Amino acid sequence: MIDTGRNAALAGRPEGLEQLRTLLDTAFGALGDAALKRGGPVAPGGPEAAVAAVREALGGSRFLAEEPSAQRVADLFGAYATWAVDLTHPSAVARMQCAPTAASVAAELLAATLNQSLHAWESGPFALELERRLIAEMASWVGFGEAASGTLTPGGSISNLMGLLFSRDRALREADSTGPDSGAVSQAGLTGRRIRPRILCSAAAHFSIARAAGFLGLGRDAVLIVPVDERGRMLPEEARRLLDGFGPDEVAVALVATAGTTDHGSFDPLPELADLAAEYRIWLHVDAAYGIGALFSTSLAPLLDGLGRADSVAFDLHKFGWTPASSSVLLVRDRRDMECLDQQAVYLNPSDDEAAGYTALLGTSLQTTRRSDAFKIAASLLTVGREGMGAWVDACHAQARYAAGRIAATEGLHLVAQPLLSTVIFRCRPSAADPVTDESAWNAAVRRKLLAEGRALLARTKITGLDGVPQVHLKLVFLNPTTTEAEIDELLADITAAAREVARDGRHM
Ligand SMILES: Cc1ncc(COP(=O)(O)O)c(C=O)c1O
Repeated sequence: MIDTGRNAALAGRPEGLEQLRTLLDTAFGALGDAALKRGGPVAPGGPEAAVAAVREALGGSRFLAEEPSAQRVADLFGAYATWAVDLTHPSAVARMQCAPTAASVAAELLAATLNQSLHAWESGPFALELERRLIAEMASWVGFGEAASGTLTPGGSISNLMGLLFSRDRALREADSTGPDSGAVSQAGLTGRRIRPRILCSAAAHFSIARAAGFLGLGRDAVLIVPVDERGRMLPEEARRLLDGFGPDEVAVALVATAGTTDHGSFDPLPELADLAAEYRIWLHVDAAYGIGALFSTSLAPLLDGLGRADSVAFDLHKFGWTPASSSVLLVRDRRDMECLDQQAVYLNPSDDEAAGYTALLGTSLQTTRRSDAFKIAASLLTVGREGMGAWVDACHAQARYAAGRIAATEGLHLVAQPLLSTVIFRCRPSAADPVTDESAWNAAVRRKLLAEGRALLARTKITGLDGVPQVHLKLVFLNPTTTEAEIDELLADITAAAREVARDGRHM
């Protein structure tokens, strides 16, 4: 029996632990039933059914309910699980969203119950030290030395933002003597500077780079797009051409390389870009949010050669890493570059406490209260180990290659390119008998039909063909190491069947 209202239990107390056990039984029941009720990677019915499911689960109650109800919570558990996308399903291949390991989920339960934070020593002494140790080890993974530092963040977009924040402060401090006091931008601001800051990245870079430029006061227009080769890799000679064309007021704040682009999984040539960054004295930020997976695989690791020459590296373990979101990391080669985050707050980290060793991680993060993401990552890594991580990445890479081979051999499907990491881009092609006039609209409709019927979750993107016209394409993202070749065959059969059905009845167009 779950107590409610003013008698509701706090999880960590003895009576709370009892109630937690009962609630966990309900949660396990919901998880067990959900796959059956769902019948596929997502429940059928599309957006209208999702709206109705939430309405039904709440049964007209307000969240801040006049009459709190344990039954309502049980209903909510059931509906949430049923309406969750099943990331373990072999046809859930839409997003860079992994199914987490059991160890990481158990750690999340413990972390939530204990609710530690990293902003003051007395908020979580063990959690603090664990993150410090994890960051130090991760720095060694990417090839950084003793001077490195970093932090866990709420996602790759925020990790990119932080890398660019540090690059902005360093670049403008060094290059700009026109600022209010030529001090750090974080202190003196951007107003009054007579310079044009620039960030270079490729057209395949993640949109969070341009957004970060906007948030940092540099403006999205500060981002210069460097052309790429046919596989979406940045061309270093084109970056050089842009840099050589700079006017006297233009300052390169950062060169952003992507290691594992969102669509093709392409890796910008890190050694050449590191050379260029060194020659022009530009901050090199590597967005390895997705491509970090290569690091765990012996055969794919060479794709990340040169990573250790970056000034900052962003990566996500909630993509390749099998830990729950958020599990993102930002590392810097030299901890002094994080100084804009220095913060002395009389109520959190007075200097005499710090001198006595009562330190925390306020000064590595944009956040104040901050949950311990290191804990679940540590639990997962200790369980799976280096060899296991490598085997899982290799399995996902092999699935992508298998799917690509099958797509290339299937009439009615067109493969764009051989996969580089674990994404496959392709599109459905109509047969002569199919009454399809707009192939882009048709491909988009095929995806929506599969979503609405709960048969398969695919991603979509736009690819420009030789005719220069961007066309809707479909994308498979393999992050589930347990998926079999037979299941991939089934998925592809479902896609081709749906394509025929949409061509015939046109209802989803
Ligand atoms: C290359 C790349 N960078 C950054 C991100 C953003 O990561 P997040 O969704 O964790 O903010 C993504 C997301 O797919 C990505 O593919």
